Amino acid sequence: MTVRIFVPADSAAVALDADEVAAAIGKEIVTRNLDATIVRNGSRGLLWLEPMVEVETPGGRLAYGPVAPDDVASLFEADFLSGGSHRLSLGRPEDIPFLARQTRLTFARCGITDPLSLEDYRAHDGLKGLQKALQMTPAAIVETVTNSGLRGRGGAGFPTGIKWKTVLDAAGPQKYIVCNADEGDSGTFADRMIMEGDPFVLIEGMAIAAIATGATRGYIYIRSEYPLAIAVMEQAIEVARMAGILGKSVLGSAHAFDMEVRVGAGAYVCGEETALLDSLEGKRGMVRAKPPLPAHQGFLGRPTVINNVVSLASVPVILDKGAEFYRDFGLGRSRGTMPIQIAGNVRHGGLFEAAFGMTLGELVDDIAGGTASGRPVRAVQVGGPLGAYFPRALFDTPFDYEAFAARDGLVGHAGIVVFDDTVDMLHQARFAMEFCAIESCGKCTPCRVGSVRGVEVIDRIAKNVDIPAQIAVLEDLCNTMKYGSLCALGGFVPYPVMSALKHFPEDFRPTPAVQAAE
Ligand SMILES: Cc1cc2nc3c(=O)[nH]c(=O)nc-3n(C[C@H](O)[C@H](O)[C@H](O)COP(=O)(O)O)c2cc1C
Ligand code: SF4
Repeated sequence: MTVRIFVPADSAAVALDADEVAAAIGKEIVTRNLDATIVRNGSRGLLWLEPMVEVETPGGRLAYGPVAPDDVASLFEADFLSGGSHRLSLGRPEDIPFLARQTRLTFARCGITDPLSLEDYRAHDGLKGLQKALQMTPAAIVETVTNSGLRGRGGAGFPTGIKWKTVLDAAGPQKYIVCNADEGDSGTFADRMIMEGDPFVLIEGMAIAAIATGATRGYIYIRSEYPLAIAVMEQAIEVARMAGILGKSVLGSAHAFDMEVRVGAGAYVCGEETALLDSLEGKRGMVRAKPPLPAHQGFLGRPTVINNVVSLASVPVILDKGAEFYRDFGLGRSRGTMPIQIAGNVRHGGLFEAAFGMTLGELVDDIAGGTASGRPVRAVQVGGPLGAYFPRALFDTPFDYEAFAARDGLVGHAGIVVFDDTVDMLHQARFAMEFCAIESCGKCTPCRVGSVRGVEVIDRIAKNVDIPAQIAVLEDLCNTMKYGSLCALGGFVPYPVMSALKHFPEDFRPTPAVQAAE
């Protein structure tokens, strides 16, 4: 029987020479005249082990990693095709603690299947959610999503079912489904991993959203920095179209739905839903005032569902296994699972999908294994560039929208970036203001002007110019930005700035070197 060897084609693995590893494996197969084939799968998300190569043996899949091109010959010599032992042997992937401790619902297939094989997708429960949705009324689909407790995974945490109901109830000759795949937050990669590793689940989720709301056209707005995700999604859409999942009659039903990929130019603000819609319409991405909500007047002024990749990719399992199955996971009003992305200065970075409720400390110390540098963890930024910095004292905060908000933080798209004790928090606060100044769409004054003034004030603190007066100005500025900005870019920048100031005040005092020089 032909042995299947899995070499991820995910961007993270490719950045670590997965293509060269695949080529070397291919060469050995030919030279040694072996009956084996290479599958380019997605990543399992254990990024420190990439490229993680897996071999399908009669006893199940066995993993080896991280594999460099130079390791390939020795893997064949160790007979890894039969599961032979090698210094890179990792055993069964499911037994690696980082994977064993996860609850994979949205990422159930990622890293397991061939991303572009519909056969593989179906064999791993693919399309079951869509098939169930096709037997239901639009209102019943919306009710199932509402009852599941699913909240938007893009950042705002708005209940997905309520958004869908607004679009279902809106009158209009044409409705749209727009998938937000701009993924601009620092340290986040869940959307990319889904698109590269399991693109059909996103297509299925968008098709279910379309049937639930009466939309017939969809767009996936992907940032240009994601060339592999763009290529895989485009191919997957074509495969789905050929198989009758997309087109005039979704899986032979009376519902029509088709979609296409649109590529953004890479402005952070174009991830904000209304700026994204402007960009999708071919305009410069500027934030629109709300109301009207996109659900009433969105793309081209028509009722539009706009959801994040992970939100949409979580819908098929909800329809397949039921609202209760999904809502049984989680804590408080944060139901289901969250694909947490662990990055920065960590030993074990990657994607960790878990039910809401684990504490930040468990994630950083246990799951991520502390810092890669071996130095103590000093700060963790959660929720992207607009998220707060958490000190060790707040490591008991559970991963839950409300718990983070109660501590002036946000879960956002669930990216966590870890820093060791060499981090300069004044510099991080400056970075937040500078980021806002660069990425501001310029529509409102608190954000456009406030962020520039913020950089100047922090620079004066760094130069030790009347620090108490500068801190008073900084606090005042942050309040103006928080309450006076039109969108969350200007409105949330105070989170990283004020959390740095509140939890790490020692970095906002004159350094001994500066004092001595005066
Ligand atoms: C400045 C800014 C950038 C944003 N970037 C993204 C993004 O990259 N991806 C995303 O899904 N949502 C992003 N959002 C949130 C979107 O505006 C919107 O809430 C989301 O697409 C709704 O989908 P959801 O309900 O499924 O989360 C951003 C918001 C702001 C204010
Ligand atoms: S807060 Fe900033 S990004 Fe948002 S609308 Fe105002 S200027 Fe534009």
